[in-house]
Amino acid sequence: MTKQTKTDDASGRGSVEGFKVPFPGRLHPYSEEAINAAVHVMRNVEGQTQGEYLKKFEQAFKDYTGAKHAFAVDNATNALRLAAILCRLKQGDEVIIPAYTFCATAIPFGKTGAKIVWADIDKETWVVDPKDIERKITPKTKAIVVVHLLGMPVNMSAVMEIAKKHNLRVVEDCAQAPGSEINGQSVGTFGDFGCFSFHGAKNMTTLGEGGMLTVKNDDDAKFVPGLRHNGCKAYEGKRPRYWVPAMSNVDIDIEGVWPNNFCIGEVQCAVGIEELKHLDEVNNKLIEQADKIKSIMADTPEITFAKIPQGFKHIFHQFVMHFEGVGSKDRNDLMDILVNEYKIRCIVQYYPLYRYPLFQKLGAGEYDCPVLESWWDNSFSFPWWCGMDDETIEYLTSSLKAAIKKLKSA
Ligand SMILES: Cc1ncc(COP(=O)(O)O)c(C=O)c1O
Repeated sequence: MTKQTKTDDASGRGSVEGFKVPFPGRLHPYSEEAINAAVHVMRNVEGQTQGEYLKKFEQAFKDYTGAKHAFAVDNATNALRLAAILCRLKQGDEVIIPAYTFCATAIPFGKTGAKIVWADIDKETWVVDPKDIERKITPKTKAIVVVHLLGMPVNMSAVMEIAKKHNLRVVEDCAQAPGSEINGQSVGTFGDFGCFSFHGAKNMTTLGEGGMLTVKNDDDAKFVPGLRHNGCKAYEGKRPRYWVPAMSNVDIDIEGVWPNNFCIGEVQCAVGIEELKHLDEVNNKLIEQADKIKSIMADTPEITFAKIPQGFKHIFHQFVMHFEGVGSKDRNDLMDILVNEYKIRCIVQYYPLYRYPLFQKLGAGEYDCPVLESWWDNSFSFPWWCGMDDETIEYLTSSLKAAIKKLKSA
């Protein structure tokens, strides 16, 4: 078990000092291979962007997920931005987005001018409920965004059936779910687009920032390189002088859309190739840890966990629980004991997005999400990283049981 001595950082995860079980900023250390790959590219590779490592990383990701197209980008927010642009959303359209997620899921869609309609969670899996999505479809709805939050896959067969029936585009936010599957099929390959994050706290990272956009259709995929890199594209055909009329063309074939620079560097791609090789090992360890905690807590009905449907692979990017409450005592009372007495840096993850000032100020403050409203305020998470030892698991679970006992006798 590690001890945290210094003051908390600016992660928004609380600021109590001296934690016995801290909440580390990343899930696992880099492999030696990833470190060596980064150094190799730094020392030896001429072009530091858009070279062979980009191509190799994209190919490796296609091989891993089975996606038809994959485009590495600088972060998942911008992968979502590309997906939002390619959904051709505009003012007057509606897009359905889960209210329980990180804000980056929704912001790129808000930027299109479309109205955000918040979808509720399923009371068993705690990810978006397809039935609620269908309930919120209107003639203005153009797209559905789903989030495989915490690594738990959304019921994609139900979502795709709804999308087909109503002719809607589907974006999968897989930021927290590389390696999550449904009956062996990777998330990010069901809908039109999949958006993965390689941020520093994720199950795999490319030096703190990074992302991948997977695309199902050739028609969408052909626009991505230009949208990703300032509209730069090769001239067609052979030119007698490579500098005439210019070195490369700048153009875009989507009406009214300005391109961006969402490129990722070669060092990051080289690291990504190596990290991807270790992803299953990391995910399997996280699953094993989660199973251990769940089985130790099985005798404590006050604590519940998301139900994983048959055939779904949930990769436990984080470990979220729900406290059913004891008399008038709620999640905050429980966390007071865990944080202050047991020095466990528990956190509360996300916030129904419609409660944030940003979304309220920008016209997305309306909601109808009764399940999320009754569930969220009693949710909380243990500190989480890959390779948690049995001593830590024992300390976390025995402290949680003792805290509940204390609340019961209060
Ligand atoms: C659900 C979700 N969507 C999107 C993002 C954005 O990812 P990035 O930080 O790579 O832009 C995150 C990152 O934390 C996330 O958790």
